[in-house]
Amino acid sequence: TLLEVVNDNNLEIDGYGACEGTLSCSTCHVMLKEEDYRNLPEGASDEELDILELAYDLCDTSRLGCQIK
Ligand code: FES
Repeated sequence: TLLEVVNDNNLEIDGYGACEGTLSCSTCHVMLKEEDYRNLPEGASDEELDILELAYDLCDTSRLGCQIK
């Protein structure tokens, strides 16, 4: 997942991925370019959408990094 890429590369993004991918925090919110959003192999699950609604500054191309594979 994108969250794993952040963690595996020791990218220090304060507070990113606080729940470690258990779909309970929305701190892994990312805003993708339209093209990148459209090219994702899978859309957001209902569980992801429920948590995504809690994210700050939500947009049409928002996803949770812990759910992007
Ligand atoms: Fe918490 Fe993604 S890391 S919802």
